[in-house]
Formats: sequence, C-alpha cells, structure tokens
Amino acid sequence: MSLPKRIVLVGPMGAGKSTIGRMLARELGYRFLDSDRIIEERCGANIPWIFDVEGEEGFRQRETAMLAELSEVHGTVLATGGGAVMRPENHELLKRDATVVYLKTSIDQQVERTRRDRNRPLLQNDDPEAVLRHLFALRDPLYTGLADIVMFTDRKSPRLVVRQLVNRVNPKTPRHKRQVRKEGRNHA
Ligand code: S3P
Repeated sequence: MSLPKRIVLVGPMGAGKSTIGRMLARELGYRFLDSDRIIEERCGANIPWIFDVEGEEGFRQRETAMLAELSEVHGTVLATGGGAVMRPENHELLKRDATVVYLKTSIDQQVERTRRDRNRPLLQNDDPEAVLRHLFALRDPLYTGLADIVMFTDRKSPRLVVRQLVNRVNPKTPRHKRQVRKEGRNHA
C-alpha cells in the first residue's frame, strides 16, 4: 500500500488542523498547505478583514477557488477552514486524489482552543460556544460523510495524533523505511 497523493484535514475550528497538518507533513516528507493562510497571503488581508469587506460569501468564493487550485497539488497535507465542507461543490475538490481525515473534537475542546482567538469572525460574539454547537450539528455529518479516516483528538497530544495518523495512512510501512523516504525527500 502506498501513501495517498494528498492528505486533506477537515474539522471544526480548534480541531488542531494546522498544528497537526504541519507535523504530519514533516513526518511524511510532504509539503504543508494551509488554505486560510494562502487566501490571506494572496489577498494581502486577514480573514476578519475579508469577512468585513466581502462578507462570508466573498470569503467562501475565495475558499472554493483556493480548494480547486490546491486539489491539483500532490505530495501535500492540506489544512482546510472549518467551513470548507459547507458548499457541496467543494466536496469533490476536497476528495480529489486525497485521503480525507476528519479531526473530530468535542465542543469543550473547541471552546478551550479558540477562547482567546480574535482571528475567527464567526466566534466574535457573546456566545461562541452556542455558535460552535450550532456549527457542529450542521457540519459533523458532512465531515463524517467525506472522511476516509475519523480521528478523535480530545485528550491527545498533537504528536500522538500524528503518530496514529501515520499508521492509518500507511500502516504497512515500517518506521525505518518512513525515515529513509523522509530523508530522501529532504535532500531532493
Ligand atoms: C471558519 C473557520 C476558519 C476560517 C473562517 C471560517 C468556519 O478556519 O476558515 O474563519 O466557517 O468554521 P479554522 O477552522 O482553521 O479556524
């Protein structure tokens, strides 16, 4: 069994997609891509600004365009925004040539990990927990439906999640062989 061409991480805000994605990419010798960060770089503005000026709809259009572009890039681990699953047209873009991983996380953990965050416009209100609950009810079935792998992240360190994911995406490869591939790629 060989590694997938792409690994796509989906899941709610505060699931650890960026942290885990970066570590997983390093472990596999893949390139790490974060769709929100690339949107911000291209736009020259951060996500709150994009939501302010263009509305959520403007952001979602940029997100779909970005997912389309990144779906062509192989040898990558892609961290997506929590709402990437909301547009049906994104589903094929997320799944294209990819193993999709749902980082499943309890509401408590999501609340804890996003508590002091100012960069997530959807949570800048009086009751971010209620928003997270509402979004979970809407999106959990979508994440689950798209996922090839559902990985629980609660009470696990990012390191442990990454180790478990490496075993799931390529269970047949012994550790020393993964190391060789990693070194080979780094020196390429
Ligand atoms: C969003 C999640 C954010 C970002 C935007 C909208 C969402 O990404 O794309 O603020 O709709 O859940 P993270 O999941 O990386 O926080």
